[in-house]
Amino acid sequence: MDSAKLILQGKEYELPIIVGSEGEIGIDISKLRAQSGAITLDPGYGNTGSCLSSITFIDGEKGILQYRGYPIEELARGARFVEVCHLLIYGHLPSENELTQFRDQLIHHSMIHEDMKKLFEGYPPTVHPMAVLSSMISSMSAYYPNSGNGEDVDLNIIRLLAKAKTFAAFSYKKSIGQPYVYPRNDLSYPGDFIHMMFAVPAEPYEVPPVLEDALNLLLILHADHEQNCSTSTVRMVGSSQANLFASMAGGVNALWGALHGGANQKVIQMLQMIYDDNEDYKKYIELAKDKSSDFKLMGFGHRVYKNFDPRALILKESSDKVLEQLGVDDPLLEIGRNLERIALEDEYFIERKLYPNVDFYSGIIYRAMGLPTNMFTVMFALGRLPGWIAHWKEMSEDPHGRIYRPRQIYTGETKRSLKPIHMR
Ligand code: CMC
Repeated sequence: MDSAKLILQGKEYELPIIVGSEGEIGIDISKLRAQSGAITLDPGYGNTGSCLSSITFIDGEKGILQYRGYPIEELARGARFVEVCHLLIYGHLPSENELTQFRDQLIHHSMIHEDMKKLFEGYPPTVHPMAVLSSMISSMSAYYPNSGNGEDVDLNIIRLLAKAKTFAAFSYKKSIGQPYVYPRNDLSYPGDFIHMMFAVPAEPYEVPPVLEDALNLLLILHADHEQNCSTSTVRMVGSSQANLFASMAGGVNALWGALHGGANQKVIQMLQMIYDDNEDYKKYIELAKDKSSDFKLMGFGHRVYKNFDPRALILKESSDKVLEQLGVDDPLLEIGRNLERIALEDEYFIERKLYPNVDFYSGIIYRAMGLPTNMFTVMFALGRLPGWIAHWKEMSEDPHGRIYRPRQIYTGETKRSLKPIHMR
């Protein structure tokens, strides 16, 4: 099979077939408009491939997720986040030397320019940390202006990865009115973040290994997910040759929404609501099914996964372990488990293949770790950065790359003439 046929208004068009390395089939319609005048229509892009990519493979029916060929289960069990960053961005797991060098560079660049600290001061204490994160990443263009696709690109990638966790932790410290804690050279990437979040200057603080390991796992599970809303946004922004930092700030903002990364914060708010409402599961299940309400079961459903989200399975298991190790007895975990069980037995959810996604259990773990709810989506963004960078790099290096520019079917007024107001 090397082509597909389309019959349009009695005329036949032959369309080439592209087969991916895992056997996925795509019909190449890139010349269709030039040949026939017609475009394809696919609102929400559920059926549209926007690029060829060699970064991440997902089989939503089988619940498979692989970064550069490595199954997520193996990476979750045996890799460190920094190795996964290298894998996604540069295509291979680092050698020992590469890892040392990569780590050293991340440590070396983790401080932020002292002037940037003043930017934090301008925000009210109630600011959502996602607003701060996207602004700080965008502002990096001001401090590192050669952030296009030139020779500085690798250095800017390091700067971005290294400083993002400092921005995130500083935004938290600012919101609670505590002094900033500077990055430390002797800690791992997740360990340093936890230290900047929870240590207080002049007081001893040891990063608990259980927090460091839990964060390492969460960051790995979020590191990439092919052409999701935020990653496609990064590629879209970058396709105009906008610089690395501008493209990444676009990704942070796209991630913020409740249907995407913002869902982890909404899950906890929903579980809390059910808890406060005497665990009236039936009421909320019925509300979620009622199309006239705008209530959905947050953390449920996925565009791609139709049987299970492998990341959610891993997190469900580890949430028990982490809570036990931390000695946290969180009633919301029990609410989450009950809600999952009830929803999975309900015809509405079975028919539509709606299962818990990665955001369902991640919030419970973040909460047990002591992170405030409005930081959850920031944690998602920190994890997703290497994926966004890998896609931005792949897109920028593609010699056949074109600016992203979808078409539309216009449904507005047909041509009419202006009647100036004084003539009416
Ligand atoms: N609660 C109730 N009904 C739902 C839900 C839900 N969470 N999710 C989907 N449905 C229904 C939807 O109303 C539709 O019903 P019908 O066929 O009767 O019209 C059907 O299931 C198919 O859903 P869809 O809206 O076509 O699905 P989508 O692929 O456009 O949206 C989604 C995917 C994740 C945005 C959606 O499932 C959702 O809003 N979930 C809640 C938010 C959430 O948890 N988001 C995190 C996603 S995972 C992390 C990430 O990658 O961002």
